Amino acid sequence: MTQNMERTGVSRRSFLGGVGVTAGGLVVASGPVLWQQAAKAATVTAEQIHLTFGGDPAREVVVSWVTPTSVSNPKVIVGTPAGGFGRAVEAETRTYTDSNNGIATITQHASINGLHPDTDYVYQIVSDGETQLSSAFRTAPEGRAAFRFTSVGDIACGDTAYSKASLNAAATAASVEKFDPVVHLVNGDLSYANSNQTFQPQVWEEYFDNTQLSAANRPWMPTLGNHENEPGNGPQGYLSYQTRFTLPKNHSSDFEGNWYSFQVGSVLFVMLDNNDVCYQIDTGTYLSTGDSQILTGYSGGQQLKWLEKTLREASTDTSVDWIVAVMHQPAMSTSGADGADLGIRQNWMPLFYRYGVDFVLAGHDHDYERSYLVRGTDSGTVMRPHVVSTDLTSVNSDEGLVHLVIGTGGTKGHDDVYQTGTAGEPTETINVSGTATETEDAPWSAVTDPNATYPWGLGVFDVDPGRFPGDKTTMTFTYYHTPAATASTPYPAPVEFDTFTATRTRSDGFGFRQRNAK
Ligand SMILES: [Fe+2]
Repeated sequence: MTQNMERTGVSRRSFLGGVGVTAGGLVVASGPVLWQQAAKAATVTAEQIHLTFGGDPAREVVVSWVTPTSVSNPKVIVGTPAGGFGRAVEAETRTYTDSNNGIATITQHASINGLHPDTDYVYQIVSDGETQLSSAFRTAPEGRAAFRFTSVGDIACGDTAYSKASLNAAATAASVEKFDPVVHLVNGDLSYANSNQTFQPQVWEEYFDNTQLSAANRPWMPTLGNHENEPGNGPQGYLSYQTRFTLPKNHSSDFEGNWYSFQVGSVLFVMLDNNDVCYQIDTGTYLSTGDSQILTGYSGGQQLKWLEKTLREASTDTSVDWIVAVMHQPAMSTSGADGADLGIRQNWMPLFYRYGVDFVLAGHDHDYERSYLVRGTDSGTVMRPHVVSTDLTSVNSDEGLVHLVIGTGGTKGHDDVYQTGTAGEPTETINVSGTATETEDAPWSAVTDPNATYPWGLGVFDVDPGRFPGDKTTMTFTYYHTPAATASTPYPAPVEFDTFTATRTRSDGFGFRQRNAK
């Protein structure tokens, strides 16, 4: 569905008024328009289908999709494989108009509540009585249960007509589906729409049509990256993202969807917007329009306050064994690309150490890197994380956290080059302001993947909840990398590259104060 479109977009979509094509081929807008796929004009068809969890992943799933035209009574009919389709859930319609080309995108969101934990459901998307598409999903388990989740950032849309896209984005979606996780985490930089400013809605369409083969069957939970910032689309450039996703509430005054948390089994996922705290400015994309959207500090401390409250409550919650923080720009990275950002170290990391976060997942650099177990800061450095253990095969998460850069989701440019000093020791660049960087040794760097034969990949986590209160629970992480996808081999097989097991003490035993002790 995504491979044969011309760059202008007009071969795939028929624009309904308000848009002209210049002699140079650029599409120019003269007012809000709806766009309609010519082949679908006679029958409305849902597209760009993707699932997210609601605030309670064991009981709430949101089905989101786009309709090429306005429809009446959009809804989801949900049921069970054995019982067939049953109740109807009305969808909320939300529309936004892209500031650059005036295209209006019509999104639909059906929030399904009252589901049962760890249960298979079937669903149909319908409108005006027309049955459109059917698929299935499974709710999250409740309580301490074994389950799998996956993680990767920096995906792009998979249609090579667009900047930053490659065939590997499609391969990543297939890989996620192959590993059959309860939930997939997207570590920011989803479609790279803002690298294609004249075609932002079209790029989003390609992204969602590409990920639909997995995201229609299981929740893909996103975080914001620098490429979700679209000039002119909302105060932070997030209007497209916010319109297209329905995410758990953070109860902020103006920033719903920008950060949030949700719990699956005994794992609390904390999804953060690093654009709020990063010093690094992406001068290569959105600033080129002259529409400066430097986001550092935009929430006025609201996100930091929310994070501190969320982590403090989790630290005394006897249902939470693991805390996984998901973000885009990394706090630690020896990559020769963008490197680490001091703003994350200053704002988030002290809270992560204090309240016992176990994993920090990032992207942004288009490569893979694993840290040793770290906790606290080395003196005389740019808040360099302090190494607690150099054990490569097992870590004690009661004593620190592991930071992972997994920015290998398929975007065209891959990095795979890591910095070293004169003696071959790992070094990293830290962004310390909008324009300045510092470089220092990175003894925390445990594993990198400089093998350019396998530029892409994803992370797979398997949770073993343990057997009884106060028992040990484990999380085994494996990074699978993949060779380049080609037209003849669109879905190359993932190859195991790096694995280790983290162990921590369950929080429901008499000895529970380990997390606070960090
Ligand atoms: Fe990025």
